[in-house]
Amino acid sequence: MLLFKEVKSLQKYLIGKNGSVGFVPTMGALHAGHMSIVRHARTENDISVCSIFVNPTQFNESSDLDAYPRLPGQDIAKLSEEGNDILFMPSVHEIYPTELPEPKAVDLNGLDQGMEGAFRPGHFAGVAQVVGRLLDIVNPHRLYMGQKDYQQVAVIDHVIRETGRSVELRVHPTIRETDGLAMSSRNLRLNLDERNQAIRIYQTLQEIQVGFSAEMPISQLEDEALKALDRPGFKPEYVAIVDRKTLLPFRYQQNENGAVACVACWVGGVRLIDNILLEPLRLA
Ligand code: PAJ
Repeated sequence: MLLFKEVKSLQKYLIGKNGSVGFVPTMGALHAGHMSIVRHARTENDISVCSIFVNPTQFNESSDLDAYPRLPGQDIAKLSEEGNDILFMPSVHEIYPTELPEPKAVDLNGLDQGMEGAFRPGHFAGVAQVVGRLLDIVNPHRLYMGQKDYQQVAVIDHVIRETGRSVELRVHPTIRETDGLAMSSRNLRLNLDERNQAIRIYQTLQEIQVGFSAEMPISQLEDEALKALDRPGFKPEYVAIVDRKTLLPFRYQQNENGAVACVACWVGGVRLIDNILLEPLRLA
């Protein structure tokens, strides 16, 4: 695996190459969820590029940015073992050079307002900014992202279409621990008790699925889920059942895009998010 820290040297290398490039942007502390996406990028393209950059502009609290796990040695070992071709690990100055003019922000069409956006103001502007910059640098044929961050995917899909980029977005399902907890770099910050309790988040999403197939009222499903997560050591921020495309509140009467249930919940001092694509009841 080749490691690049500078934009210029990465671009010089890529310009001389033929074939398709698959790109996986990450913030590191890589786990099996990231690695499954990297595997797709590697097997579906001639060259796979993974970036590790803890993007300051998408963190709304400096304490969260400071606490974000950084494990470059382990990450490099995992990526080379997986057969990833290129790792891009830029500094903040490489990504946001003071001499570059601020790029024009893309209007996110309200996709950034609800759920994560309501609790993390400016977060998606930061995500759109860094992914836009990384796409400009790497210029991949395919961009790989995880469904784990559902709203992020919706935002980036919109940015790609809005800016007329030719990159193809490929989204891969959430990889979970055997007990159902969605893999996340933040899980490393849970203590043993919190880690064991955290499975309640996915269990609650599965309970929503049961109620959804019975067409229970959406607000009742959301309220009951919030109550189920309101337990010692937990602080749920939102449970929202929304349209899979518009991210607006879901209605059974307008079901052409399908529904997704999204949740954010603090477990101890760690903020976790998860989601489930809701399937209507299918009679055999
Ligand atoms: P990060 O949280 O490191 O995630 C990198 C990619 O891995 C994202 O597309 C995310 O959805 C995906 N991912 C994380 N956990 C996953 C899991 N359990 N299963 C499947 N995919 C998973 O998301 C970011 O970084 C940043 O916001 C970024 C896009 C890199 C911009 O800074």
